[in-house]
Amino acid sequence: MEGSEMEQREGCGDSRAGRKRKGLATSVEERVRPEVRSMARPRHGGDVWGYNGIEDYSSNVNPLGAPERLAEYIRDAAGDLINYPDDTASGLKGAIASRYDVPAGSIVVGAGSAELIRLFPEVFISPGDKVVMPKPTFSEYGFACRLMGARMVDHPLREEDGFRVDVGSLINALDRETKAVYLCNPNNPVGRMIGRREVMELVEEAGRRDVMVFLDETLLELSERDQDVTCVHEVESHDNMFLIRSFTKSFAMPGLRIGYGFGSKEVMRFMEAGRLSWNIGTLEQRVGARLMSEEQEHVRKAVRMLVDEKKRMHSELSRILPYRVPLPDSYFFFCPVHPLGVSSRQFRAAMLEERMLVRDCSSFGAPCDRYSRFCVKTPERNEAFLGAMRSAVEKLGTGR
Ligand SMILES: Cc1ncc(COP(=O)(O)O)c(C=O)c1O
Repeated sequence: MEGSEMEQREGCGDSRAGRKRKGLATSVEERVRPEVRSMARPRHGGDVWGYNGIEDYSSNVNPLGAPERLAEYIRDAAGDLINYPDDTASGLKGAIASRYDVPAGSIVVGAGSAELIRLFPEVFISPGDKVVMPKPTFSEYGFACRLMGARMVDHPLREEDGFRVDVGSLINALDRETKAVYLCNPNNPVGRMIGRREVMELVEEAGRRDVMVFLDETLLELSERDQDVTCVHEVESHDNMFLIRSFTKSFAMPGLRIGYGFGSKEVMRFMEAGRLSWNIGTLEQRVGARLMSEEQEHVRKAVRMLVDEKKRMHSELSRILPYRVPLPDSYFFFCPVHPLGVSSRQFRAAMLEERMLVRDCSSFGAPCDRYSRFCVKTPERNEAFLGAMRSAVEKLGTGR
C-alpha cells in the first residue's frame, strides 16, 4: 500500500466547516494548527473493503497469507487482556533482538511501522526544518513531516533512470540546513532497490552534514537480497540513522498493527521518550513475539516462491503487453500503462472489470499517473491475474 499528494482535501477546511458557530469567538478551523488545517489524508492501495470477490493485487503482502498457526497465537494471547500492556514491550523486543542478533535496547516497537513514521518527525523535526524527500516515495513520510511543520524539499527520481535513487545526487541535495533525508529501500511504488554500500555512503555523508537518515526496509524482508542489503547492523554505530521494518508485509497481517524500528542507544533514548504510552497492545506483543521466533520459515518460503513467480510473470507480461516491462528489483511491478492509451486510473478501472484490483498510482503525482503497481502472488493466482490482464489489454485494443 501507500501514496498520496496534497491534491485532494478530504473533509477539512471546507467553507461550512470553517463557519463560525454559536458560542465561539472563532471557528474551529481557525483554532486548528495551520499544518493540520491544510492537510489531506494520504491515500493507499489495499482498499478492498466494499468490493466483493475482487482479488487484491494492489498491496504487497506475503502471498502465502498469514501463518497457519496465527489463530492459535491469537487465542493464546486473548486470555490476558484485563491488564494494561507491558509498556516496555520486553517480550516482543526480546524476540526481535534474537531474530536480528542486536541488543533489545536498539529497538522501538509501534502500532505498525506507520506509528514509527509518525514518531520520527515528532522527535526530530521542528517547524521550519528542511527535509529532503525522494519523489515518488511512500506518502506517509511527507504527511508526518508536514504535520510537524517541516519544510519539504522534493528530490525527483528520474523516469529515464527507471526511478532509481542516485545516491550521489541525493547527497548533493543535503546541506547544513537539512535536518533529515528519507530513503525507502526498495522504494514504494517504483520497486527499485539500492545496495548496502550505497545506503551507507548516504548515511556517512549525511552524518558529516549533521543530517538524520530515515531508512524504510519494510519491503525488503520479502526480497531475496534482504541479507545482503539490510542495514540493521549499521544502526548501532551510526547516531544519524533510524530504520523501520514491519510484520505487515512479511506475515501478511495488515489487520494486526505491529512494526519495529532500530536505532543507536542514543537515538532510542529519545524515540522511547516521545513514544505514546501503551502504543502496542498485549495481543500484538504476544502474537508478534511468537511469529518472530517460530515463523521465520513461512517468510523464507514466500521469498523462494516470489523469486520464481516474479520471473515467470515478467516473461508472461512481456508477451501480453506490446512493450518491455521493467523487471523489478523487488517483488512487485511498477508497469507503464500509457502505451496502452490509458492512465493509471483508467487501467485500474479496466482491471476491476476483470475482478482484479491494481494500484492507481496517480496519487504519487506525475509521471506515476502513467504507471500501475501490482504484486506477485501464488502460481495459480498469478495465472488468473495474467488472464485478466490479457483480457483487459485485448478490450483496450492494444495487445500483441
Ligand atoms: C513502504 C512502506 N512503509 C511502511 C508502511 C506502513 O506499514 P505498516 O504500518 O503496516 O507497518 C507501508 C504500508 O503500506 C509501506 O508501503
